[in-house]
Amino acid sequence: MKSVVIQQPEQLVIEERPLPEPQAGEVRVRVVSAGICGSDVHIFRGHNPFAKYPRVIGHEFFGLIDAAGEGVDPARLGERVVIDPVVSCGHCYPCSVGRPNVCTSLQVIGVHRDGGFSEYACAPAGNAYQVPDSIPDREATMIEPFSIAANICAQLRPTEQDVALVYGAGPMGLTVIQVLRGVYGVKQIIVTDRIPERLAMAQENGADRTIHNGETDLAAALQAQAIRPTLIVDAACHPSILPEAIAIASPAARIGIMGFSAEPCTINQQAITGKELSIFSSRLNSVRFPQVISWMTEQRIRPEKLITHAFVLHHVTDALTLFEQNQKTCCKVLLTFSD
Ligand code: NAI
Ligand code: MN
Ligand code: ZN
Repeated sequence: MKSVVIQQPEQLVIEERPLPEPQAGEVRVRVVSAGICGSDVHIFRGHNPFAKYPRVIGHEFFGLIDAAGEGVDPARLGERVVIDPVVSCGHCYPCSVGRPNVCTSLQVIGVHRDGGFSEYACAPAGNAYQVPDSIPDREATMIEPFSIAANICAQLRPTEQDVALVYGAGPMGLTVIQVLRGVYGVKQIIVTDRIPERLAMAQENGADRTIHNGETDLAAALQAQAIRPTLIVDAACHPSILPEAIAIASPAARIGIMGFSAEPCTINQQAITGKELSIFSSRLNSVRFPQVISWMTEQRIRPEKLITHAFVLHHVTDALTLFEQNQKTCCKVLLTFSD
């Protein structure tokens, strides 16, 4: 089988590898399509502190079960599945409180172990979620990115009367916007970014108002329109954003962050406590795949809108380069596998 291997930072090869045998409790998936995510590029470029090399990247993938390890129901052979990349121990403190996404021995498929940019990939059977026939292959590949939005929204508990502000209109911001609007019915969604083409995508995905914060001072623009956000999501993840979000938030607002920068930022107690703000963080997803699958079945979210490009596996380098360099035209780029 062919696998996309990052041998070490900046060294990508399409390698011929032996077909992996599923271990006890695992399934083997014949991959049909996979999504490119910023974190795949970070592993390629050597910017992911968790990655070990050589590594088969890819944590957003859909396919068909083609082999079952010991103890796995053989009736699952042929099942259409999407893989939750979060592999957890099941018994540590976070696992015991339903948060396997921060398991003390967390393993992320495509980061800590080999992933889905490969003709075949193995995963624990419990991580393989059946996809209903009503969800097309391409859309099923989008379940993982939407699980990130599902997870942060589960923390923030949006309501219809919220005035939401989303920083960043990349793939993460756009999935969050779709979920806020389509699932939680949030009526006012303001989105800020510094790329006009991305702000246009935000509008197509449910934003009511967009603010180019490279050209306009965001706090002043909101104040001029008497907008005080009650729910803020940082899907741009620059360290300067949290202090600004704290300053512009309404009293009693909730703020959600999802960045991994190690750079410090300065915040003060008064600005938070004075308004009794709640600040949540979100990493990956805690068993949110079933929820996202039902949202897709009910067509409350529109994954197809976010898919801008597709490449065959053979052209993975072109796909990664385009994704990395062309933020104006790219949102989600898929890799497809011919049979
Ligand atoms: P992206 O880079 O495609 O999008 C980020 C967007 O934010 C860009 O359009 C950029 O122009 C905009 N932006 C940058 N600085 C800004 C600022 N100061 N104000 C307003 N907009 C600004 O990235 P993607 O894939 O959408 O992911 C966003 C972030 O989410 C990344 O930092 C990523 O590491 C993080 N992430 C976190 C996850 C988690 O589980 N916590 C999972 C996936 C991504
Ligand atoms: Mn991803
Ligand atoms: Zn655990």
